[in-house]
Amino acid sequence: MRNVELKARDPDPARTLERALALGAEDIGVIRQRDTYFAGARGRLKLREQETDGPPLFDELIEYSRADTTDARTSTYRRVPVADAAPLREALDAAYGAVATVNKRRRLLLWEGVRIHLDDVEGLGTFLELEAIADRGSDLGAEHEKVERLRAELGVQDENLVGASYENLVRTEAGGRLEPEDSGSADELLAAAERVMHTAHVPYSHFPVGAALRGGDGQVYAGANVENASYPQGQCAETSAIGALIAAGQTEITEVGVVAERMDFCPPCGGCRQRLAEFAGPDTPVHLGRPGGPRMTTTVGELLPLAFELEPPA
Ligand code: THU
Repeated sequence: MRNVELKARDPDPARTLERALALGAEDIGVIRQRDTYFAGARGRLKLREQETDGPPLFDELIEYSRADTTDARTSTYRRVPVADAAPLREALDAAYGAVATVNKRRRLLLWEGVRIHLDDVEGLGTFLELEAIADRGSDLGAEHEKVERLRAELGVQDENLVGASYENLVRTEAGGRLEPEDSGSADELLAAAERVMHTAHVPYSHFPVGAALRGGDGQVYAGANVENASYPQGQCAETSAIGALIAAGQTEITEVGVVAERMDFCPPCGGCRQRLAEFAGPDTPVHLGRPGGPRMTTTVGELLPLAFELEPPA
């Protein structure tokens, strides 16, 4: 299944409801949803447990992927009805780890095949989501048009548009190591990583990654992953970036940024952690995320405790 969707903070849900009803949207009612998100590599996975005052809804496992942009965007997803959600949640948590829980009260309206969600999300506030479900084989033109029309009719302001998922917002608010505020330096690195990511040679995994390193000279050195028909010969983005830094005569890494097209936060693989540690210190910051988007900052030491070090011979 595919849809075109848009998300915004909604400072006045009562007014939005009124406008939606005035357009002829059908009020389906209120659903209380608890979404549990699991660590998953390629797409994203959530278990949705839900209750209504009306006819019961199936709990479901939802696998989906989409880009974190504020524009109306396309997302693809699969919904699998779940008969017994609690033990499944426990099993998935044991196997993969639950990374966030999002509780919300959703008022669902339908307008010309577009789902209108008036969401009150625990700890985050009120949001409006528009989801135009695409017909099979649609070129998505009609869906984009409907979303744009609703966006105008419901008075969605540009400054209220939100690119991040509720999961990311909840993790940010939870005060983990996600940083909602931009710091110029991290953003510069992530922007460089994102730019170089588009040069990745990834015909096998289709998983482009970009890495940017700040050298001891303050300059940014970037590289993307380079795969090979003989799979194990492929090289990660971090390794390519280290090559660029070394080729410029630098020997020190003071800051790291990594961006992956298909993952919100792409942590460097084990091998690259060791490679970074060769030129970085345990306190060297590592920014994972997107420029201007949700971002997590960790350090080389946190990523690689007890790093292997060969004592230089006496
Ligand atoms: N990859 C990176 O470039 N950096 C990482 O931190 C993780 C993985 C690449 C390697 C391979 O080309 C693709 O992602 C899929 O594993």
